[in-house]
Amino acid sequence: MAFDWSFYLLKLFRMLINKVSIGGFLSGLENIVLRLPALEDGMAVFRLVENCPPLDINSSYCNLLQCSHFANTSVAAEVRGDVLGFISGYVIPGRPDTLFVWQVAVAEEARGLGLASRMLAHILTRPHCKDIAYLETTITQDNQASRALFKGLAKNLSADFESSGWMDKDVHFDGQHDTEALIRIGPFNSHG
Ligand SMILES: CC(C)(COP(=O)(O)OP(=O)(O)OC[C@H]1O[C@@H](n2cnc3c(N)ncnc32)[C@H](O)[C@@H]1OP(=O)(O)O)[C@@H](O)C(=O)NCCC(=O)NCCS
Repeated sequence: MAFDWSFYLLKLFRMLINKVSIGGFLSGLENIVLRLPALEDGMAVFRLVENCPPLDINSSYCNLLQCSHFANTSVAAEVRGDVLGFISGYVIPGRPDTLFVWQVAVAEEARGLGLASRMLAHILTRPHCKDIAYLETTITQDNQASRALFKGLAKNLSADFESSGWMDKDVHFDGQHDTEALIRIGPFNSHG
């Protein structure tokens, strides 16, 4: 797998900008508000996901449902009125101890600042997630950023990180989408 120097150079550059705190639009995470999404965020989330390949683009109706029915297990990251980050998640039906993280999206200009990690931690520490002991998500083989994000979460929670086969390119996606491995993190206690 090729080493992505450009990502680490960008990360270093952003860390330096954070350190000197230039007070600009994204001088650091202190300007970012993490909050429950609302129905009115639906189209902003739609556009954010559209600008975050390789994420699948959902229908706007689906994003509206994520921002309403699934708001307690989802988060919007807002900077001066703009949604720059979003995580959609839900508690798996019939498994009240397991949070499924559906999509994680961070706008390009806000990457490398720890925002995705902070959004995940934010959801897990909500009162609504007090009984959550496992997190599941899916990752495609080539999504290094996503793998690093969830490995980092498992490390921070001192929890196991397991990967197994789940949604197969040919069996389940009719060859139209890369295979998604199932990632399971836990057990953990994010309220302890
Ligand atoms: C993946 C994504 C959400 C990460 O957001 P982010 O806010 O930049 O992530 P963070 O700054 O919290 O970084 C979390 C960890 O991932 C690592 N990471 C982030 N982007 C990376 C990249 N492109 N390559 C390698 N590692 C990366 C960070 O170094 C960090 O690791 P560390 O804790 O060991 O330092 C963002 O790149 C994105 O929106 N990508 C497009 C959509 C996508 O692929 N979503 C994930 C699938 S659901």
